[in-house]
Amino acid sequence: MIATAIAHPNIALVKYWGKREHSLNLPAAGSLSVTLGPMCTRTRVSFGVAERDSFVLNGIAQSEKETARISRFLDLIRAMAPRAGFATVESSNDFPTAAGLASSSSGFAALALAASHAAGLDLDHATLSVLARRGSGSAARSIDGGFVRMAAGIKLDGTDAFATPIFGPEHWNLHVVIAVTTEKSKDVPSTDGMNLTQRTSPYFGAWIGTVEPAIETASAAIAARDFERLAEVAEASALQMHASAMAAVPGVIYFNGTTIDVVHAVRAMRVRDGLPVFFTIDAGPHVKVFTLADSVAEVTRRLTEIPGVVRTIHATPAPAARIVERVA
Ligand code: PMV
Repeated sequence: MIATAIAHPNIALVKYWGKREHSLNLPAAGSLSVTLGPMCTRTRVSFGVAERDSFVLNGIAQSEKETARISRFLDLIRAMAPRAGFATVESSNDFPTAAGLASSSSGFAALALAASHAAGLDLDHATLSVLARRGSGSAARSIDGGFVRMAAGIKLDGTDAFATPIFGPEHWNLHVVIAVTTEKSKDVPSTDGMNLTQRTSPYFGAWIGTVEPAIETASAAIAARDFERLAEVAEASALQMHASAMAAVPGVIYFNGTTIDVVHAVRAMRVRDGLPVFFTIDAGPHVKVFTLADSVAEVTRRLTEIPGVVRTIHATPAPAARIVERVA
């Protein structure tokens, strides 16, 4: 069987940073995100025709190390569908990996969906989100579209650590302008950064204490389409996550000089000029700037003028992951 799936990346408004268990990839706290398009990952999986797993990304056969990560993930599928043999996985992102758009979120969501269908499994929503989580924590959230809440869960087997959509993409016409601050991609991988933070940062416990209240505030702000309230809680979550990471030993610093310049420019746009705008930053130096439809052109223009901003990428809330092709 062959199946092709499409999934969109997501950006967290309340961040995930830290694990309560490593082998099952269980988050130490919840998170809250918005799934974004038009950019997407498209992944085609066929089982049973090859003599070993292969993984082609953007037309390039991937290294043994990259393929091994995919194979370990496919083993989870084979454990549920023992008749599925080796797989051929072809994946492409229509956005640059260096854009800091968490290609692992759309990547493992698309792979979970395509591979489970290709193996003849029809997994329920929670099981699919749990499966995607095993590939990458943020991928659990890209199974859904729009505004998504991820539960940390309390069960040892992780079956309660999955994402749930809270509002569809049509609920609120938010816009995101991503200020790309370098074309290089050599950040500390998110898992390494969060593990070091958890092991060595004296602020890790304090950080985790901020998460659930922030999720409640952010959910209420999204429900009420209250931009100012969301701005406050989302910026705080991003900075609190980064503060905990910077306090690790050695400190994990994802910002470059331009990151800081963009942060100040966004603050000035909001506080001095009254534009609806706020920022968030993930495990890389790019700045994701949220705004509303009427201000997209102005915000984009101003971001582009900041020295060091290489280019901008525009995104809006997108739908859930879906199957686009199935061949028996
Ligand atoms: O899904 P991972 O393991 O790449 O971790 C994502 C971590 C952040 O992007 C920094 C935050 C988040 O919640 O997406």
